Amino acid sequence: MSERIVVLDFGGQYNQLITRRVREGGVFSELFQITAPKEKILGDRLDGIIFSGGPDSVYAENARTCPDWIFELNVPILGICYGMQYIAKCCGGKIEAQQIREYGRTNTTFAGHPLFEGMENGTVWMNHNDSVTVAPEGFEVIASTANCGIAAFANDEKRLYGIQFHAEVVHTDNGQRIFDNFLKNICHLKCDRSAAVVADTLIEDIRKQVGDGRVIAGLSGGVDSSVAAVLVHRAIGDRLTCIFVDHGLLRENEAQEVMECYKESLGLNIIAVDASERFLTKLRGVDDPEQKRKIIGTEFIRVFEEEAKKLGGGDYLLQGTIYPDVIESGSNGSAVIKSHHNVGGLPKDIGFKGLVEPLRMLFKDEVRLLGESLGIPEHLVWRQPFPGPGLAIRVMGEVTEEKLKILRHSDAVFRREVKNAGLERSLWQYFTVFTGIRSVGVMGDRRTYDYAIGVRAVTSTDAMSVDWAEIPFPVLKRISDCIIAEVPHVNRVVYDITSKPPGTVEWE
Ligand code: XMP
Repeated sequence: MSERIVVLDFGGQYNQLITRRVREGGVFSELFQITAPKEKILGDRLDGIIFSGGPDSVYAENARTCPDWIFELNVPILGICYGMQYIAKCCGGKIEAQQIREYGRTNTTFAGHPLFEGMENGTVWMNHNDSVTVAPEGFEVIASTANCGIAAFANDEKRLYGIQFHAEVVHTDNGQRIFDNFLKNICHLKCDRSAAVVADTLIEDIRKQVGDGRVIAGLSGGVDSSVAAVLVHRAIGDRLTCIFVDHGLLRENEAQEVMECYKESLGLNIIAVDASERFLTKLRGVDDPEQKRKIIGTEFIRVFEEEAKKLGGGDYLLQGTIYPDVIESGSNGSAVIKSHHNVGGLPKDIGFKGLVEPLRMLFKDEVRLLGESLGIPEHLVWRQPFPGPGLAIRVMGEVTEEKLKILRHSDAVFRREVKNAGLERSLWQYFTVFTGIRSVGVMGDRRTYDYAIGVRAVTSTDAMSVDWAEIPFPVLKRISDCIIAEVPHVNRVVYDITSKPPGTVEWE
């Protein structure tokens, strides 16, 4: 059972960042709503709790609260900003609105307390109207600023701690140090969670879950499903069978490269199914983006089911679900912008005993580190995300072989130039789009009437919000020159300068 800290969400903006800090400190951490059931918060093991910040005033009528039993669990609690004020309120302290609102970088004096071990007086990030003006009985003041006499407090006997400032944001000097101190000096944890340790634990968990059963996986060549498959392979060897469906909508040489990598470098037991004819036939004459997505999603499931049946079925289905997918699936009621399809979206009712989801507690970059620690080749681990429906959503309107050919070629040229310019790692995604627009040009003194290719490159950390990438002009110029010179039937290149929102990453 790994060491575990729970962050309780009182509505602050930086809550995910708090879990990140704890994870970076070498301890597993999860974020829960204040209404989460007790057994979820307790989990298999609980070593400490952090109360996040939040927008409320503790005395306001509908101010967020948590159940009293949280204080009776006998684990250390650290409150941040509102979290600190809430602890103060619950223990009989006094909180008041301040005349001078403290916002931004603020000089702070730390008293010598284990929470601030090794810390000089320094700058912290403040963002509050209210503050604790009278500490509850039994609490010692352990930090202060010019405008905030009680910037941090501690009750070592009750193991309750509070900091008024946001240690989780980068603007607090040595913020990580405060989390490390909390974990080591207050919670007395070993903090030894590394990618290698995580891999061992996950492999052990898979063995326990699967027993002597068999697992089937659908692989797409993406990072998450590949890392998940390698973990399961380490756990149960050839009782894992992977199916790779080539829907004919992959990038240049992708099917071959991915298969070689899976078979040769990773030693996976994998079956490739060439279903390209089938997909392209179904897509003939269809130009509506949603319909295209639905056809591909449905067909994918059909092919997968047929292949799984041929294998005589399996006991478990492997899915590459990661933590953000889990969080997002909890938020209902949002509008459907696009019907996403990926290998991870296979239906659960296709005759399996259960799901294996080894990555469901990890963030994307943790999956990548895990992948590296498992020896998965770098080019696979650091691959840019590629959508399940593939190039079909990068060809505007009806998908045809001719359009796919032009798109594949231009995309390969673009990717080569991004690599040559050393920009691969700084871009979240980069690809070309077959716009379907034809325009007039002049090449070699002759009139042309050919296609315009869209070039899209974006930066992001999670694909929820995205900026168009500021690729240097000389690189853009070279990209345009190369695409037009090398790709037949293209005479114009346009660069997409739309962020998300209001745009989306993919054009369809
Ligand atoms: P959008 O276009 O919605 O894309 O801004 C956000 C991210 O999701 C990827 N994407 C998909 N991934 N199945 C997937 O697995 C899909 O159907 C799908 N559609 C979009 C897109 O490439 C970007 O990373």
